[in-house]
Amino acid sequence: MKPAEFDSHAAHYDGGLDNPIKRLVGSSADQFIAVKARWLLRRELRLTAGGLAVLDYGCGAGDLLRVLVGLGARAAFTGCDVSTGMLAEAAKRWPAAFGPAPALAVQDGARTPFADGQFDIVTISAVLHHVPPAERQAVYRELGRLLKPDGRLYVFEHNPRNPLVRYVIARTPIDANAILLDEKEVRHGLLDSARYDIVSNYLMFMPPGITFLRGIDRLLAWLPLGAQYVVAARKGA
Ligand SMILES: C[S@@+](CC[C@H](N)C(=O)[O-])C[C@H]1O[C@@H](n2cnc3c(N)ncnc32)[C@H](O)[C@@H]1O
Repeated sequence: MKPAEFDSHAAHYDGGLDNPIKRLVGSSADQFIAVKARWLLRRELRLTAGGLAVLDYGCGAGDLLRVLVGLGARAAFTGCDVSTGMLAEAAKRWPAAFGPAPALAVQDGARTPFADGQFDIVTISAVLHHVPPAERQAVYRELGRLLKPDGRLYVFEHNPRNPLVRYVIARTPIDANAILLDEKEVRHGLLDSARYDIVSNYLMFMPPGITFLRGIDRLLAWLPLGAQYVVAARKGA
């Protein structure tokens, strides 16, 4: 089998922080991930109660799951990815203090080994821009297959409408083959494969390291200029 693109980045993966502009606005990859994790925890209050089955599709080195648990999330967590190298890093980087690492599974292309309707929540963060456009519909179909009726899908992506994002992505080694996609493309891609109620928010208007400016993100969530966006999709019952 051909090695996955991210196998070669896995050992040193730090979420693209080798880009000097990105380092100017945040000092660790976790700071950027925490913006998404905090948004998710505000939206999914039951995430701290335990009992939900949560999949992070394209989990990479497990950063989103690790940051979520660090912020108090309790759930049955699973991660999957096409890169065995990234999955090995996810297992290696999981802090012993957090208990056993999430269940981790390797994908066969878009396809995962999980049953239909296995998850209450599926997240997919900073993955789709690495999936060639012709293969994205298979990913959307798979995400819909994995969700329970009434399950929630959260798609986090870089926002190509933000000029700084485009500048940074064009100069970051892990994004050499990236093709950015806007919120409309995700929305339409999802709706072509399942029935969802969809809401989008924009995130990361402020550098993630500056904590006292965090409230501004909440006020501007409607403005399509944040560095990130999230498409929140609830699957029809
Ligand atoms: C930039 S990393 C993001 C990792 C993680 N989601 C995060 O937010 O830290 C992109 C990840 O997407 C994975 N990936 C690329 N194509 C994929 C696909 N078709 N299905 C699932 N994962 C894929 C890569 O292997 C890599 O781990």
